[in-house]
Amino acid sequence: MEKELMSLQVKPSRGLEGRVAVPGDKSISHRAAILGALGEGITRIDGFLESEDCLATLRCLSLLGVPIHRLSPGCYTIVGQGSKGFQEPMDVLDCGNSGTTMRLLAGALSMQPIFSILTGDASLRNRPMARIIEPLRSMGGQIYSRKNNTRAPLAIIGNQNLEGKTHVLPIASAQVKSAILLAGLGARGATVVREPARSRNHTEVMLQQLGVPVKVDGLSVTIEGGTIPRGGHIIIPGDISSAAYLLVAGAILPDSDLTITNVGVNPTRAGIISVLQKMGADLSIKPEEGDGEKRATIRVRSSHLKGTEIGGEIIPTLIDELPVIAVAAAYAQGMTRVKDAAELRVKECDRIAVVAKELAKLGVDIEAQADGWIIQGGQHLRGGVVSGHNDHRVVMALAILGLGSSEPLQITGAQCLEVSFPGFAGTFQQLGAEMEETAKDPESME
Ligand code: S3P
Repeated sequence: MEKELMSLQVKPSRGLEGRVAVPGDKSISHRAAILGALGEGITRIDGFLESEDCLATLRCLSLLGVPIHRLSPGCYTIVGQGSKGFQEPMDVLDCGNSGTTMRLLAGALSMQPIFSILTGDASLRNRPMARIIEPLRSMGGQIYSRKNNTRAPLAIIGNQNLEGKTHVLPIASAQVKSAILLAGLGARGATVVREPARSRNHTEVMLQQLGVPVKVDGLSVTIEGGTIPRGGHIIIPGDISSAAYLLVAGAILPDSDLTITNVGVNPTRAGIISVLQKMGADLSIKPEEGDGEKRATIRVRSSHLKGTEIGGEIIPTLIDELPVIAVAAAYAQGMTRVKDAAELRVKECDRIAVVAKELAKLGVDIEAQADGWIIQGGQHLRGGVVSGHNDHRVVMALAILGLGSSEPLQITGAQCLEVSFPGFAGTFQQLGAEMEETAKDPESME
């Protein structure tokens, strides 16, 4: 079904104030549902992100015969089927816009005694899949796909006799690492994944929480096949990738003072905190109690930001925050250089090209590089109409730029906000920002 086209109207705002919680973490929500389904017994999840991406994961699991009950908003129980107990789906599994759904499920489906097809929207069908197909095939997975096994849809014939292997990844990717580890759960012997830099480790943390031993040695992770996760209670923290928009808004808008509670601050995700601190942001971080993933309350106040260099192993810890970090850089004094982030070109869209194009329209001095940007901050920024390119993180980053600019801004393609941050505009309104979603999209031919 076609989604209603929306646009986001943003007016210059200042003095944002208040205390909010952001919706649940997207990466952890996917993993809770999938590991719950692969486990034995019942897993209860609190704080599940009810966004389009995570709901796509639940729909696919339901089609695979996994009983899922919604007890209240964000609170679910999943009845585990064990690592080889999925039923053959009657239809294709539609992952929508969600790379995490497709890549993690491909790992989980490689070992199930069934035939399945994973597909998604036009953006997802254009994203690289050889990075999971090749390692899963090397373990005995039978996966076939379009464009010489590089693009979805993926057709998977499960093999109950996968073999554990050692995989040396050319890029740091938590989706690839997790797909391999999930297949490793049902494989014979040890599965090892070695990354060039540390990517988010939510799969490892949750496997351990659910009783599966995981050995982490520097950049290598090892799992022994044959252990089934046991059911458990998973409490999902707020998504730092969503909190990022509030952190940047609070720092760049004059007279602002925001407190964000229950933010997941797992060090493999929290790179934006150290980058903003290096840029001079006034942040205070108070750790919160709890098991599993680390969480904190973060307060941000108006700050005078300065440019910085961002590259190397911090990149995987803030990869999804780079569009809004580019906005922070536009409001900072001096130059910011982002490098080693070529992965941005294969996200929901080519984020290096698109961010450079749309920010430049608004007066930002930004140059796209092969692996990042050079941004000269402190220019006078205009309003106007820009495109969010149907990419949720681009729309939200542009919205933050609009709050700080001198003229109103309209962002088309805002319906994709539901992918990761339902209630984005409402959250900002609650804090005093002028931001509104409207149904009429003037570029409805986009
Ligand atoms: C994710 C990993 C990252 C990230 C994505 C979510 C995950 O992708 O960009 O939004 O949940 O594992 P890569 O694994 O491709 O780096």
